[in-house]
Amino acid sequence: MRDGITEKYIDENRQGEVLVVDEEVKPGLKKLFLESYGCAMNFADSEIVASILLQNGYTTTNQMEEADAIFINTCAIRDNAEQRVRARLKNFIPLKAKKPELLVGVLGCMAERLKQKFLEEEKLVDIVAGPDAYRDLPKLIASAESGQRAVNVFLSREETYADISPVRLDGNGVSAFITIMRGCDNMCSFCVVPYTRGRERSRDPESIINEARDLFEKGYKEVTLLGQNVDSYKWKAKDSDEVVTFAMLLEKVAQVNPDMRVRFSTSHPKDITEEVMKAMVAYENICNYIHLPIQSGNSRILELMNRTYTREWYLDRINMIRSYVPDIGLSTDVISGFCSETEEEHQDTISLMREVVFDYAYMFTYSERPGTPAAKKLTDDVPEEVKSRRLSEIIVAQRENSHIRNKMDVGKTCKVLIEGFSKRSDEMLKGRNDQNKMIIFPKGNHKKGDYVHVTVTDCSSATLHGVVVNEA
Ligand code: SAH
Ligand code: SF4
Ligand code: F3S
Repeated sequence: MRDGITEKYIDENRQGEVLVVDEEVKPGLKKLFLESYGCAMNFADSEIVASILLQNGYTTTNQMEEADAIFINTCAIRDNAEQRVRARLKNFIPLKAKKPELLVGVLGCMAERLKQKFLEEEKLVDIVAGPDAYRDLPKLIASAESGQRAVNVFLSREETYADISPVRLDGNGVSAFITIMRGCDNMCSFCVVPYTRGRERSRDPESIINEARDLFEKGYKEVTLLGQNVDSYKWKAKDSDEVVTFAMLLEKVAQVNPDMRVRFSTSHPKDITEEVMKAMVAYENICNYIHLPIQSGNSRILELMNRTYTREWYLDRINMIRSYVPDIGLSTDVISGFCSETEEEHQDTISLMREVVFDYAYMFTYSERPGTPAAKKLTDDVPEEVKSRRLSEIIVAQRENSHIRNKMDVGKTCKVLIEGFSKRSDEMLKGRNDQNKMIIFPKGNHKKGDYVHVTVTDCSSATLHGVVVNEA
């Protein structure tokens, strides 16, 4: 099952990418090797970390042998994410043996989950900093340099890093993430995020719009607004009664420039509103794509997961969304083998997937996370082989769905934003259409950052192929 394509479906999270700032290295600066794991929000946080450290005498490097500090920004969402980080830390032992002054820091969600325990478990780690503690990094580094092991895992109710302008790490120079809120108040029973990222808080809309404008001025053509639950974005200025909702924010960002696309992630089925759909219809540059995690197609399991919606509610939301934008791109997240899930309940997930026909899905086996409500109150009683077999069935169903949806695009012409060369050939370019589908086409005279119209000529379950018909 685990060939290249299925692997791509299984984990939406990125693994151990080392990203560097694209600039000339000035002599005398210390070198930071920053490796990131996890979701887009974690990668966006790494850009905040880099920004803070660049102001404090560091530059970035992708050579870990020459680093003065190695920081890894970690994810705790599933056990395998944590295992990967632990295995990675072992690679740093010989480096530290050679260069005792090398600092090793663990950042992000796993740092938050394990806190002080990290220093006891992993003797090599000098610094532990949770997602709300990055402003404190220069101080933590100073303590570590003086031989003390340094920890800050304080979770804030206010921190949004609104005033810190992230340095863009290794991006394609075309599309960038903007974090609009932090934390999560939802308490889905399986999920560790509320514990690793704390309470939900929204960021000042002015700072978001300024960041979008600045990106556009630097040549970016697409921004993705990030939050664990973007539909509950809410901003109320201290001295005014005016409330900015997510739909209002979306419009304001879309108004920055009609040539800059706006995407967002993640939407929660309980909160998505018609106002968001109206904004999508009103602005051509708000992309017709929604990631709407279902998790399970069975209402009893959804209740145990504390998702606060039923199968029927979810299907009704899909109908509402499609009533505004019939050809919308839709993706989802699914968990197989949650506590007490029966075979029939698993079939409900597959039948829901076949009913909606998602373009794409990220699919996981349930991984119990210590300290979560599910770990405390429910039994992780579906055997691993059963979880994996159910996952395989879910993947098969989704592959068929992706193929059905991709075939519907063959013969159609769509506007594509070029992101760069395709993985396989420098003669081919790749870019996404409005619905977030990747299309590969011969390069002609086109280049990264251009909009072109592409007619889709062919497809697999994973990609669309096409030819440029004219400039967009
Ligand atoms: N805030 C987003 C998702 C955050 S985590 C939302 O609410 O949809 C991304 C995905 O990881 C989740 O949608 C879920 O499908 C998966 N996930 C989270 N915790 C998990 C766990 N304990 N085991 C397996 N998958 C999990
Ligand atoms: Fe986790 Fe649920 Fe919050 Fe998503 S909405 S981050 S799944 S608690
Ligand atoms: Fe992982 Fe934290 Fe994101 S647990 S998925 S890096 S919010």
